[in-house]
Amino acid sequence: MVFGLAGSRPLFHVKQYECLFVPSLALYIRASPTTDPPGFATMSRVIAIANQKGGVGKTTTAINLGACLAVAEKKTLIIDIDPQGNSTSGLGVVRGEVERSIYDVLVDRTPVRAATQPEIHFPFLDLVPSTRDLVGAEVELVNQHERELVLRRALEEVREQYDFVLVDCPPSLGLLTLNTMAAADAVLIPIQCEFYALEGLSQLLNTIRLVQRNLNPRLEIDGVLLTMFDQRLNLSRQVAEEAKEYFGDRVYGTVIPRNVRLAEAPSFGKPIVLYDILSAGAQAYLNLAREMISRSEARAVAQRAGAGVAGS
Ligand SMILES: Nc1ncnc2c1ncn2[C@@H]1O[C@H](COP(=O)(O)OP(=O)(O)OP(=O)(O)O)[C@@H](O)[C@H]1O
Ligand SMILES: [Mg+2]
Repeated sequence: MVFGLAGSRPLFHVKQYECLFVPSLALYIRASPTTDPPGFATMSRVIAIANQKGGVGKTTTAINLGACLAVAEKKTLIIDIDPQGNSTSGLGVVRGEVERSIYDVLVDRTPVRAATQPEIHFPFLDLVPSTRDLVGAEVELVNQHERELVLRRALEEVREQYDFVLVDCPPSLGLLTLNTMAAADAVLIPIQCEFYALEGLSQLLNTIRLVQRNLNPRLEIDGVLLTMFDQRLNLSRQVAEEAKEYFGDRVYGTVIPRNVRLAEAPSFGKPIVLYDILSAGAQAYLNLAREMISRSEARAVAQRAGAGVAGS
């Protein structure tokens, strides 16, 4: 009862408890007490959340992973590069009131900083919103010089200010997604545990290869995230097994379950940790943030060791 809905209003408002929850969550989520020892700070990482298949959980992941990273005191920027603007509205930003957006960054070369809305729900979470103008951006970019590299250039001045930059891509492999892949260090691929989940993946992987070859050799696959997993369904388990066969340990150990609270939260303009912290969806995204932070710490340690070997 406590967590049910009364009409359209949740009975449980985490907001009242934020002052208690957020600091304790930060402790819970941090991978270990050795997080960020001097000299081991993780490097800034730009992650494209991409899959040209629609409705697989890209936006839900951008909003909730971003919020959980911010709760863990990782400075995080979410960029909404989808004309649908679901990350923007899902974070409670009214699109009609946005003055500067990712459209201005791409088409008018407005600095990212000028289009950034700071401290969205959390001190460590910023957002570059999307507006409806973005629908026309692909056409407007076509005649621009090095049109695939506009976002990369724009991000150069701000990326070092963030631990993570998450870019919520549209469900297509057009110029907006290409710009994101050209700017990114890695692609996170959400896969919905449903029929035809893996269909179209070869096209996505081909696009990643083309970007690696022509625009951005350092682009890697960050990982594959299984979303909307229903453990009662054989189908969900089959999709998970197939994904693991193909992608091996690049599949995140954290699986996002199908959870109605995750679907409800955007209509309240809140990430799941502020809407229903005890839901299975909130716990999953907290675990995902924790896993991503440990992976990036492991990468930083490996890079440091590599640099040490190279330098000796
Ligand atoms: N784990 C989940 N459990 C239940 N519902 C979910 C879950 N993840 C996402 N949804 C719901 O599924 C729908 C599609 O999710 P989402 O918008 O995140 O996908 P998307 O890949 O961003 O879609 P698009 O390709 O249109 O941008 C939304 O209504 C969302 O609330
Ligand atoms: Mg989306």
